Amino acid sequence: MKKVVKKLKKGLKGEIVIPADKSLSHRAIILSSLAKGKSVIKNFSNGQDPLSSLNICKSLGVEAEFKNNNLIVYSNGKFSMPNSILDCGNSGTTRRFMTGILAGQNFNSILTGDESLSKRPMKRVIEPLELMGAEIVSDNNHAPLKIFGRNLHSINYNSKLASAQVKSCVLLAGMNCEGKTSFTEPYLSRNHTEIMLKHMGAEISIDKTTVTIEKSILEPCEIEICGDISSAAYFIAAGLIVPDSEIILKNVGLNPTRTGIIEVVEKMGRNIEILDKKTVSGELVGDIKVSYSDLKSCMIEGEIIPKLIDELPVIAVLATQAEGTTIIKNAQDLRNKESDRISSIVKELKKLGADIEETIDGFIINGKTRLKGGCEVESYHDHRLAMSLYVAGLISGNPLTINGFEWIEISFPEFEQLFVKCKQM
Ligand code: S3P
Repeated sequence: MKKVVKKLKKGLKGEIVIPADKSLSHRAIILSSLAKGKSVIKNFSNGQDPLSSLNICKSLGVEAEFKNNNLIVYSNGKFSMPNSILDCGNSGTTRRFMTGILAGQNFNSILTGDESLSKRPMKRVIEPLELMGAEIVSDNNHAPLKIFGRNLHSINYNSKLASAQVKSCVLLAGMNCEGKTSFTEPYLSRNHTEIMLKHMGAEISIDKTTVTIEKSILEPCEIEICGDISSAAYFIAAGLIVPDSEIILKNVGLNPTRTGIIEVVEKMGRNIEILDKKTVSGELVGDIKVSYSDLKSCMIEGEIIPKLIDELPVIAVLATQAEGTTIIKNAQDLRNKESDRISSIVKELKKLGADIEETIDGFIINGKTRLKGGCEVESYHDHRLAMSLYVAGLISGNPLTINGFEWIEISFPEFEQLFVKCKQM
């Protein structure tokens, strides 16, 4: 689907409620499927990725139904053998989490996914799982994955990557093993799995960047999912770069392992106001007030990277409007996302007239540039590319046509509808 985005003549105004967090929705359905009894998930995401996790849990024998905006999950505490191949769609989180769980079952299973997912690396989870005794046959570490379920044993794993997907995969496999399984990462990646596992009664402890889990039985629970800061990021960026904007983003998850974008905006010289902070189901939540501002360049590298990994394409758009040279380093794993997000965002922003160069592990942007638009850009079947380019279109001199805009459905189906709400006619 093609989407034409026009330059805004007036600022973005108003208040919007940010839809449910994708990461938390995956964890809520997968973990409640492993807890015997009835769990209630309030505000489950309607993005296609979390729905892939939901469908797989159903194929593995879990019952789940939507009732008055809640997802009610009934489970007997374990998965049963599926009748068919399990399709993860576009979702890397579904596939990496499920590989960890399925490797330790007493049945065999096969995981597939769409074209983009089939290109994404699985060695990062196959390697620790094999050390735990798993038997997984893959196409050179890519899907389809044939998983031969068996009893696994605990390990202490030192990961080269800071990755919440790999960490969660190992913890979910370790939860079924005798003894203690620990996972250490170079920097702290998002810790939603640890928080939710604790909330559901797992034996889990955390020491800096090491998480340790023991054999655990999960209790069913009631979880409320807050808004997704990765979705809020598009409104944060647009609010900062569209002149005369002032918007309030309500119910946004503010877990410190996810708020790198707020730290970056502060480095760019703008304080984001956080209102009404509270804790919901163990996660920090608040409202964000953002308004148009002059921005200056900054350096983005090291331990902040996992805290903003999904926001880097829209941060690139933001940096085109910041005075000076913004450098993003140590983000090589961005090449392994739904698209190679380093080369794709650089290529598309160049078409708009941005001064941006690709490096091995990031990009360098010289600002401030006037984006010219008046061209067609590609989403690369990548939801975050489509939404980042939409934000760029709001300040481009001429209308921008985004090809493959329908990919926003992966994480944020309400994206455009909420932007329309903030546009002043
Ligand atoms: C996610 C972790 C991140 C992120 C992805 C969602 C999660 O991936 O990019 O969109 O929910 O755990 P990595 O753990 O591979 O960095």
